[in-house]
Amino acid sequence: MSAPVLPPTNDAITHAADLLRAGGLVAMPTETVYGLAANAADAEAVARLYAAKGRPRFNPLIAHVANLEMAEAQGVFRARALELVEAFWPGPLTLVVEVAEHATVSDLARAGLPSLALRMPDHPVARSLLAEFGGPLVAPSANPSGRISPTRAEHVAADMGDLIDLILDGGPCASGLESTIIDARGDRPALLRPGSLDPAEIDRIWPGLIRPEANPDAPQSPGQLLRHYAPQAKLRLNATTPDEGEAYLGFGAGEATLNLSTSADLTEAATNLFGMLRELDQRYDRIAVAPIPDHGLGEAINDRLTRAAKTA
Ligand code: TXA
Ligand code: MG
Repeated sequence: MSAPVLPPTNDAITHAADLLRAGGLVAMPTETVYGLAANAADAEAVARLYAAKGRPRFNPLIAHVANLEMAEAQGVFRARALELVEAFWPGPLTLVVEVAEHATVSDLARAGLPSLALRMPDHPVARSLLAEFGGPLVAPSANPSGRISPTRAEHVAADMGDLIDLILDGGPCASGLESTIIDARGDRPALLRPGSLDPAEIDRIWPGLIRPEANPDAPQSPGQLLRHYAPQAKLRLNATTPDEGEAYLGFGAGEATLNLSTSADLTEAATNLFGMLRELDQRYDRIAVAPIPDHGLGEAINDRLTRAAKTA
């Protein structure tokens, strides 16, 4: 039976928190993408979550918190990390910190790592649910592992409806791309995943951002598996025109099957990316994608497109 899709009334939030306390899986909207929430402290619920997504267990989850106190009970924040918190939480920034001694987030959720990823989402429904539940919730994007992240409740219902207990419908996600992940344990901030917070914003608060993904010898975020965010259709990137039989996902002025942003606005393109990929994937076997500039949010967009285009 497919999970009910409920508007986020007070009753629905109370019901969702009860389901989570009972070890259930609840899809919730965040400002980035829809997350599939489970009680971070309940190893059995977390195991169900990995199973529902088909996610490899070496890939750790992000724990979502309602406030800084909840975050500091789970992780150790150095001074620079707290400056980022001050500047960007609640918002699309995930910080990897050292796990706190008395943290309750289960080992399984951390994939056994000595670090922990934490984020305070900026969405009224996610925030009410976290407050009502009263503890950290792990919430990976609510899609089967390796596929396109959901930016609407309908996407979650189509992909995961049969495997979960409830979907809270908060409408389309405002930013549409996952959070930016920063390792905040070192002397310099390290970008583990580009996302919907522009890296230039990080640099403004804590200069010296390093990009370990550009260095194959440096440790990376375990989730940066090569093929990810993938449609069924074959993607061809940096295409200035479509070939015969290809759909064309445009950017900027010109003819296109769908256009990420006719005004070449990267923020608008980020919001549209996953939804448009899904739509074209349903109608075409081959999708050509226009070149996207690599600055600002373009770095995150190109990261997702590159992974989506990988064939193995
Ligand atoms: O915007 C988001 O971050 C969304 C919404 C729902 O909050 N969540 C999300 O979760 O994108 P997920 O599971 O799809 O991606 C989490 C990423 C993975 O790439 C994982 O490897 C990385 O976070 N991660 C988690 N814990 C980590 C850790 N301790 N060290 C390094 N990377 C970590
Ligand atoms: Mg994901």
